[in-house]
Amino acid sequence: MNHVIEMLLEMVEADPLPAAHTSSHWQRYGRETLIERRGEQLVLRPVGFEGIMRPQFGGVILHWVERLTYRSVTSQLKSYAPIWRMSKQLARDLSGGVNFYVFKSTCALAVLAEHWAAYRLSPRTLALIGDGYGFLGALIRRWQPGSRLYCIDLPKMLVFQANTHGKADPGARMSVLSANDSEGADITFVLPQDIERIPDEIDCAINIASMQEMNEFSIASYFTFLRRRSTTHSRFYCVNRLRKELPGGEIASFAGYPWQEDDEVFINGPCPYYTHFLGDYTLPNGPRALGMRVPFVNSFDGIHMHRLARLAPVS
Ligand SMILES: C[S@@+](CC[C@H](N)C(=O)[O-])C[C@H]1O[C@@H](n2cnc3c(N)ncnc32)[C@H](O)[C@@H]1O
Repeated sequence: MNHVIEMLLEMVEADPLPAAHTSSHWQRYGRETLIERRGEQLVLRPVGFEGIMRPQFGGVILHWVERLTYRSVTSQLKSYAPIWRMSKQLARDLSGGVNFYVFKSTCALAVLAEHWAAYRLSPRTLALIGDGYGFLGALIRRWQPGSRLYCIDLPKMLVFQANTHGKADPGARMSVLSANDSEGADITFVLPQDIERIPDEIDCAINIASMQEMNEFSIASYFTFLRRRSTTHSRFYCVNRLRKELPGGEIASFAGYPWQEDDEVFINGPCPYYTHFLGDYTLPNGPRALGMRVPFVNSFDGIHMHRLARLAPVS
């Protein structure tokens, strides 16, 4: 086990779900998420977010048909095909298979890649907020080798991300921000309460299916953080439910995030690659293969929006 995972495990032991940043949703799913040491082995079972377990035969077909149903969307994305090839290889390297999570991560990066090309941007420093299993972060590092990532999440989920990055790129220099040795690291893991210690400007921040499950305090602190690190070329890609009610009664509303009128908006509207899925959606495990049963199309519980913006800096 590498020393970064060891440090993150110590943080998990000290405070697995920091109260100020853990919504009622994540108090429940975070508790159920399993992290267990078995000797030198680490056993990880995500609850409330998808991993990339290898699906059975029926699931492979189901996800293939699922992607076909999105053909009209993916055929518009110039970088989709090369990124999809990379995603498949990455999933294999992580001993997993491709599912909706891998698909949506591919689409998200394809949307960004197209925008970066159109605006001649080559972001070097990226912040992934709530990256779950860490697939998108690892994919970005393959697509843009040499990019520097800040992975910001609750302590338990950072262990999943460190594990994914460690397997995806064993040579990457990884660090934990609070350990004071993050200088020169390729990937730095950051707790929500430590974000203001990030020294760099952020070229691109990404948050997918995550602010929709946060409390107002966390969302506000991320917007403030990003505005403080926003430059003329910074971007924030936000893909979240239009509205979601959490078990404790909190309501996370996309329109209610602290956007400003002077934010420059490049993309805004319902997210075309996040409208439906095939099969039985059984959170905590996510879209689940139905074996040989005829697949059926389901909508998500609510509309997912996506917005790509340059956040106006704090004045
Ligand atoms: C449903 S998962 C989405 C994971 C991934 N982005 C995806 O698209 O599948 C939500 C993620 O948000 C994270 N999260 C919850 N509260 C957070 C907070 N206050 N700060 C950062 N991440 C948080 C969760 O730990 C998890 O990684």
